[in-house]
Amino acid sequence: MKIYKMKDYEQMSRKAAGIILAQVISRPDSVLGLATGSTPIGLYDQLVKWYESGDLDFKEVKTVNLDEYRGLTRENDQSYYYFMHQHLFHRVNICPENVHLPDGMAEDGEAECRRYEALIDSLGGADLQLLGIGHNGHIGFNEPDRYFAKETHCVKLQESTIEANKRFFASAEEVPRYAYTMGIGTIMKARKILIVANGAGKAEIVKKAFFGPVTPEVPASILQMHPDVTLVGDEEALALI
Ligand code: F6R
Repeated sequence: MKIYKMKDYEQMSRKAAGIILAQVISRPDSVLGLATGSTPIGLYDQLVKWYESGDLDFKEVKTVNLDEYRGLTRENDQSYYYFMHQHLFHRVNICPENVHLPDGMAEDGEAECRRYEALIDSLGGADLQLLGIGHNGHIGFNEPDRYFAKETHCVKLQESTIEANKRFFASAEEVPRYAYTMGIGTIMKARKILIVANGAGKAEIVKKAFFGPVTPEVPASILQMHPDVTLVGDEEALALI
């Protein structure tokens, strides 16, 4: 595992974006697994800058997002579809048909999970999967549990996640109770993992996940078993390691 401890959020974002830039330059038709949340916003801004300066081309890039709320339309400004278009897809030359997220409005949830997993497989899996980490160690919406969920599935969100995410909604009641997420198995199939973390609030969980026991109680701890993981964090998030 490689660890980059960067001075602040800006440096963290630049370093992580540089790893994605290198991936796309070495393989212009890369399949990028992408994440939402507040941590990657700065790195998406940096990718857009490099696109605007002509250093990065998304023409052949394909993307698969980690997760999506169940029950939100694409137009809902809290859907991950909306987030990704706002922060990245609308700002670069990615082809709309190359952008993939679970369909939050699918009628048959089970079928949607199977469709999404098969789609990722049909693209050959992610070359690089970007991840953030939740305060409870979740990756995607894989919450602490007694086992590691393998494939894309629908989860009931934990109260702590609803609490953490309510800042984006008018009230906690409006946060959807269910979401689709790639499974731990889906994530582990990615050839490279890039995980980003910033802020003092992540310091404890970063230490637990990467230097504690591998357990489904801390879903991100499974990444210790992946052969190619890069953690990029700011000094605060990496203060305890
Ligand atoms: C987002 C996702 C989540 C976030 C995590 C951290 O697609 O899957 O696991 O990465 O909740 O979120 P932030 O970055 O807001 O701290």
